[in-house]
Amino acid sequence: MKKILVTGALGQIGTELVPYLRDKYGPENIIASSRRVKDGCEGITGGGPFELLDITNREAVRSVIKKHGVDSVYHLASMLSATGEDNPQALWDVNMNGLINILEEARQQSCSIFFPSSIAVFGPDSPKDKTPQDTVTRPTSIYGVSKISGELLCDYYHKKYGLDIRGLRYPGVISSAAMPGGGTTDYAVHIFYDAIKKGSYTCFLEENSSIDMIYMPDVLEGAVKLMEADPAKLQHRNAFNVSAITVTPKELAAEIKKHIPGFNIDYDIDPVRQAIADSWPNSLDDSAARREWGWDPQYDLKMMTEDMLRELGKKLQ
Ligand SMILES: NC(=O)c1ccc[n+]([C@@H]2O[C@H](COP(=O)([O-])OP(=O)(O)OC[C@H]3O[C@@H](n4cnc5c(N)ncnc54)[C@H](O)[C@@H]3O)[C@@H](O)[C@H]2O)c1
Repeated sequence: MKKILVTGALGQIGTELVPYLRDKYGPENIIASSRRVKDGCEGITGGGPFELLDITNREAVRSVIKKHGVDSVYHLASMLSATGEDNPQALWDVNMNGLINILEEARQQSCSIFFPSSIAVFGPDSPKDKTPQDTVTRPTSIYGVSKISGELLCDYYHKKYGLDIRGLRYPGVISSAAMPGGGTTDYAVHIFYDAIKKGSYTCFLEENSSIDMIYMPDVLEGAVKLMEADPAKLQHRNAFNVSAITVTPKELAAEIKKHIPGFNIDYDIDPVRQAIADSWPNSLDDSAARREWGWDPQYDLKMMTEDMLRELGKKLQ
């Protein structure tokens, strides 16, 4: 029987991953955890086992894994790209020391791990278009440095200790349940809220900044599909490029305009986030994920936009 610990469970992805896993494996088998509790998260903190857990505290990680007989960890707790640039040391502590705590306890207590990486592992020297699975990865943001280091550490633990660690490089995640947590692609969520509430949006990235995106249902399905894939078919195991939608702010605004004809976008560029975006790929080649474990995202730009406007329309009534 699976006993799954989810770290960082109250973030953008955890808010939807926890209910998805509870539906799939039974609420009693999913232990949601977070460093602190906030208002509006009662569905996660109350719908099954929940633990307050700071992943930088090794003892606490050990004790939660032991207490619940955890055999699998979806390790979501992290600082993201934009907030990380404000405090690189704090990001390193959470993203690297936190990951080492999870890896060490997983090694000692025989757990498998899902580790989400990011397109932030790529940098200005990586090919920009259809960026390959295996290519130059020399990121320039502290977030990217932590993610590529994390990928390498996961590979090391698999090779040295045989730990079953799998992971994806997510592009920007678009979703309606929780707000994004301080990343460079947050505009692609904020734009929907402002389109519905104000009919206009001021974007912090340039109109032609192309970055890949993925809609939450594909995020959830992809994670579980990879964790359940036949290991014999996985040549990479870890750090798979995945993508679904290649889009610029201008193109996303045009799609929204089809539903909200008066919608208007203007631009007030944030140099920090623009520099990060400029260092990332325009689009990704995710053929390794498609080939090795059947990655097959369902949501394109049109379907995602329709669904986001429908879901947020209900939420913001
Ligand atoms: N959302 C995206 O666009 C995106 C894209 C690529 C990769 N990812 C990766 O997916 C994972 C989840 O991302 P998300 O968007 O849900 O992030 P998020 O910022 O919304 O959530 C992360 C959660 O981790 C928590 N956290 C931070 N420090 C912690 C600590 N010391 N102990 C315990 N919890 C702590 C935060 O409070 C937050 O709730 C991260 O690893 C992220 O790097 C996300």
